[in-house]
Amino acid sequence: MEDRPKVPLGRMHIDDEMREATLRILNSGHWIKGPESKAFGQEWAEYCGALGGVPCSNGSVALIAALKVLGVGPGDEVIVPSHTYIASATCIEMVGAHPVFVEVEPEFHTVALASIQAAHTPRTKAVIAVHLYGQPVAEDVFAWCAEQGLPVIEDAAQGHGASLNGKRVGSFGDLATFSFFPSKNMAVGGDGGAILVNREDLLHPISVVIDHGRSSKYQNDTLGTNFRLSEIQCGIGRVQLRHLDGWVARRNIIASRYLAAFEGHPHVQPPVVRAGAVHAWHQFVVQVEDREGFMAHMDAHGVATGIHYPIPCHLQPVFEGHPQANDVGLNATSRLCDRIVSLPVFPLLEDEEVDRVIAAVLAYPGTA
Ligand SMILES: Cc1ncc(COP(=O)(O)O)c(C=O)c1O
Repeated sequence: MEDRPKVPLGRMHIDDEMREATLRILNSGHWIKGPESKAFGQEWAEYCGALGGVPCSNGSVALIAALKVLGVGPGDEVIVPSHTYIASATCIEMVGAHPVFVEVEPEFHTVALASIQAAHTPRTKAVIAVHLYGQPVAEDVFAWCAEQGLPVIEDAAQGHGASLNGKRVGSFGDLATFSFFPSKNMAVGGDGGAILVNREDLLHPISVVIDHGRSSKYQNDTLGTNFRLSEIQCGIGRVQLRHLDGWVARRNIIASRYLAAFEGHPHVQPPVVRAGAVHAWHQFVVQVEDREGFMAHMDAHGVATGIHYPIPCHLQPVFEGHPQANDVGLNATSRLCDRIVSLPVFPLLEDEEVDRVIAAVLAYPGTA
């Protein structure tokens, strides 16, 4: 039994620059629609290599706004992997369209092109490709969808700082959405999100959909609502952005230590990084046969663990009545959801804590 404090799943970064930005913006009295939002949108788009972008209230409404500007609505189908956070799928119903759930590549946890191809119909209006855990989606997904004229929204809520073949996530799709929820790789002191675009024709629509579809102070041309992010949060985000590369590097150092240590473990299957990728390691997810036993073992050794996510979207009660709710045909997804466990991986994890996680995993004997 461990008597030291438990190794947690996350720890927040709060510094004097963030405090200074908060007070400065508060005292300025310019709390919304000011220079910080404008600069944060531009800096974030530049960092990701996107054409442009805007901050917004959170990663869930970012997805809704992205679907809206693509004109997705009632009667349309949107392809989405079932192995993701629920917001990747519920956003589709929120605009009156229907999710068509597809498989992920089991080794990478990201959407499988063959599954998209099989699900594609004349009603398909868009694909949501999720960079789950910080692993970039395969480039051939974007290439094939482009050939079909099928818009892709990158759900990059977990992908800040990840890249593939030298291109950052956020620069692959027609649009990309991000979350700055407190536990994400980058945060803004509350809920927060961003929408990036890589198409000239979407630059204006995305900037107005988050602000009541307003074309001028008293004129509202298109349907939108208030999805804006406050100035203080944008200011905090700008400070955090300057740390992001260092944090992703630290996540990679920790992940490399885990990967080296767990190689060949008889009972714990480590994750795989796609060739050419810089993984953002939002989560470090292993697979085990007896998840309950493994988690109890880690707990007894003083290490917190999590599950992202135990129930695939197509089996969530919210999708009861969906034609895929019978769980036929998404076998890779269902198998993954039964086996995955997330281990602590975050920039403020101490080396000594990394040692403890490794020791605990190596001591796992499996089930008899
Ligand atoms: C993959 C994915 N998509 C969307 C979201 C929604 O983001 P938010 O919590 O900021 O609304 C999250 C956040 O948890 C996520 O992990």
